[in-house]
Amino acid sequence: MADTRKLFIKTYGCQMNVYDSERMAEALGASGYALTDRADDADMILLNTCHIREKAAEKVYSELGRLKPLKAANPDLKIGVAGCVAQAEGEEIMRRQPLVDLVVGPQTYHRLPAMEEAVRKGARAVDTDFPEEDKFEHLPEPPRAMRGPTAFLTVQEGCDKFCAFCVVPYTRGAEVSRPVARILTEARDLVARGVREITLLGQNVNAYHGAGDGGSWTLARLIRELARIDGLERIRFTTSHPNDMDDDLIAAHGDEPKLMPYLHLPVQSGSDRILKAMNRKHTAESYLRLIERLRNARPDLLLSGDFIVGFPGETDQDFEDTMTLVRQVGYGQAYSFKYSARPGTPAAERPCVPDDVSSERLHRLQALLTDQQRAAQVAMVGRDVNVLFEKQGRTAGQMTGKSDYLHAVHVTDPSVERGQIRRVRIIESNTNSLAGVLV
Ligand code: SAH
Ligand code: SF4
Ligand code: F3S
Repeated sequence: MADTRKLFIKTYGCQMNVYDSERMAEALGASGYALTDRADDADMILLNTCHIREKAAEKVYSELGRLKPLKAANPDLKIGVAGCVAQAEGEEIMRRQPLVDLVVGPQTYHRLPAMEEAVRKGARAVDTDFPEEDKFEHLPEPPRAMRGPTAFLTVQEGCDKFCAFCVVPYTRGAEVSRPVARILTEARDLVARGVREITLLGQNVNAYHGAGDGGSWTLARLIRELARIDGLERIRFTTSHPNDMDDDLIAAHGDEPKLMPYLHLPVQSGSDRILKAMNRKHTAESYLRLIERLRNARPDLLLSGDFIVGFPGETDQDFEDTMTLVRQVGYGQAYSFKYSARPGTPAAERPCVPDDVSSERLHRLQALLTDQQRAAQVAMVGRDVNVLFEKQGRTAGQMTGKSDYLHAVHVTDPSVERGQIRRVRIIESNTNSLAGVLV
């Protein structure tokens, strides 16, 4: 293509959307688009959206409103909506927002180049299929450019669990695992391009069961195989479901040195009554036993989680059970959300907890989780950790990276370079990061 067009992508939601945005940029790269970080400079704007809570979904419409003047100034500008809101509300977006040219769901973005061509000719295009073909097999080869030291790699998509509150099974579709060989090829390619840490992604990543030599492989087996790649130093995975934590994956936390000692394992609630109403199919007790087994395998494992407060029917006692579970586990870090009723999910039909009650609970839970995060950070002071340096920090000469435990660590030392893993002594804990010196 003679002249390069410019593509601006804004990404909302989870890491899977971050990965998808990279792949969409590559797909449109093959049609002559180069990324820009300025919306007002773009020939195409893509919003890669999230539908998980009402607030997340609403952001799309307000962002589209903000893009109106850009479209007025440049009638050739094309605007697309991708991701989970696109999947859930595709036709409605087209109706509500005439300035949208293109809507593409998470499973059809391999068709973006063709859609882009149609849109350039003046069409409006919507594609929210769940296609037969594997989109990853139909994406153009990525450019051979070097990458930063860390990367995401989607190995599994979709979810069959149908938690009563969650839109993901509807927006992402059924659970699908990518074949082992494709993942290994992609991982080796990332490493050849400078990546030293890969985070394996999936909505239920530990339910992975991709086709490999001799039948279907578990996530643990995949991790053990990835660990043999020279130059790949660190492996992480997210998000896991407690019911899919098998023995080998637990063991891998103890015996696979490249698997990092950090695990995001959402439990949502500490009340068995609420867990049942949520269709989680585990109890608080079974979760606690699982944590115990994980910590037996890897005593310094740093745990993270997700919590929902104010789920329909949640009483004061149910909420206190959640607080108790949090105290029993001791999280290094965690996310907590006020329940948001999502159209089409079973829980949306049920009577709501009053908003002021939910707000007060959220406030208390967040205070406890913040205390635990602080305590975990303070406990790092005086310890030596490995840090993979990713980028320059805010102050002159400062470099920042992540410890094995996923803590952000800053070091000011002229010998530190991006992409290095260095031994660092932690000297100070700040609000959301640690400061250290080279050992
Ligand atoms: N697959 C992951 C997480 C998916 S969504 C899992 O099973 O744990 C990320 C988090 O958003 C969830 O863990 C949950 O805590 C939160 N979430 C999902 N739906 C929600 C809703 N309707 N209201 C509030 N929080 C929600
Ligand atoms: Fe949503 Fe539950 Fe599936 Fe996680 S396991 S994606 S919370 S339905
Ligand atoms: Fe949001 Fe879709 Fe991820 S709803 S959390 S972007 S899977």
